[in-house]
Amino acid sequence: GKYNIFDWSEFCIFTQSNIAMKIVIKNIAELIQTESTPKKWVAGADMKNISTIKDAFVEIENGIITGFGSMDNWSGIDNWSNTEIIDAEGGMIFPTFCDSHTHLVFAASREEEFVDRIKGLSYQEIAKKGGGILNSAEKLQNATEDELFESALARLNEVIKMGTGAIEIKSGYGLTLESELKILRVIKRLKEASDVTIKATFLGAHALPKEFKDNKDGYMDLVIDEMLPKIAKENLADYVDIFCEKGHFTVEDTKRLLEAANKFGIKAKTHVNQFNAIGGVKASLDLGALSVDHLEQMNPEDFDVLLGSNCMPTILPSCSFFLGIPYSPARKMIDKGLPIALASDFNPGSSPSGNMNFVASLGCIKLKMTPEEVINASTINSAYAMGVEKELGSIAIGKKANLFITKPISSYAYLAYSFGENIIEKVILNGKLQ
Ligand code: NIG
Ligand code: FE
Repeated sequence: GKYNIFDWSEFCIFTQSNIAMKIVIKNIAELIQTESTPKKWVAGADMKNISTIKDAFVEIENGIITGFGSMDNWSGIDNWSNTEIIDAEGGMIFPTFCDSHTHLVFAASREEEFVDRIKGLSYQEIAKKGGGILNSAEKLQNATEDELFESALARLNEVIKMGTGAIEIKSGYGLTLESELKILRVIKRLKEASDVTIKATFLGAHALPKEFKDNKDGYMDLVIDEMLPKIAKENLADYVDIFCEKGHFTVEDTKRLLEAANKFGIKAKTHVNQFNAIGGVKASLDLGALSVDHLEQMNPEDFDVLLGSNCMPTILPSCSFFLGIPYSPARKMIDKGLPIALASDFNPGSSPSGNMNFVASLGCIKLKMTPEEVINASTINSAYAMGVEKELGSIAIGKKANLFITKPISSYAYLAYSFGENIIEKVILNGKLQ
């Protein structure tokens, strides 16, 4: 009789708030992308290798991975009252995806342009007519910060369910001081509201607003002399970005912006070589860019400058898929010894999807990458591309416990193979079940 009145709920609240909680995940068919010596990235032929442990366990304390290994080597639990057991039930565990390039904060979808493209217009023709980025900017300028926050948070929660545990989010649909600040403040609120790791990028130089149609230098002055200093002062951006492309911004604009950003200690992640290779790769590298993204068009010179640099070439195959433009020569890049990161480019115009499982499938199917290369590209390499490789991107002691548990699958290659299927059963971020 006495034991029936013991209040377990109170007991659990006590343990959670007062004692460091430990989690053990057992029954893992295969633990994927384990790392014993930390590395910044993997390049070239090394991308073909990943380390895994079959029949494994993982231990987590205070949101950090504190141990992992084969069940045979598991020492057991010393303090049961303090430990939560999660049964992976024969599923596999992967580190969560790092999605190092997105435009997650936007006011509205753009399926009317999608229909225009089906009928024969090109992405660039639509942009020239005032569609594209300017269309998104007009809608965003008319949305409130709260509306943008709510819709972006809903999108963020959807991509978390699909296994994303770190995400870079760009501004670039504001195009005025006020609206660029509005997006960056939304991203700051997302950082505070979510367990996902977020980096913010200032992309004021995304498209030329109508008011500056014949005055590109005037707009660049606004971006560099007014927006950037204010954003730096308020600490709203981790990185800076520019769309270096014919009809958008030049190599000269890119150099000016990156030089100015460097003075504030802000590194660049640039949009280069999407439609035309005009020298954006070299300009970005010369000014210490962390990543160069898109790379659908590559000159021989681009390969040469990337080799031996510290810059991560980042490929966005969902954009090629959605727009029907060429895929980046990933196979050639890896075979020449380069590292590759994969990201979703989630945005309403060129990639209305933040599904990294699908990105993995496109990596194998369209870019001819092996499943191991795709795993490296979407975890450790994309972690580097957003500056979080020391805390994320692999299963390693001391890294954040951001991982997902799959349904029982026959091999890790099944993830990229079974495109369109959701094999993710549970997502854990900072040691917390989502
Ligand atoms: O990465 N290329 C430039 N920016 C985005 C697309 C922006 C849009 O169409 O809204 C991209 O593809
Ligand atoms: Fe983009």
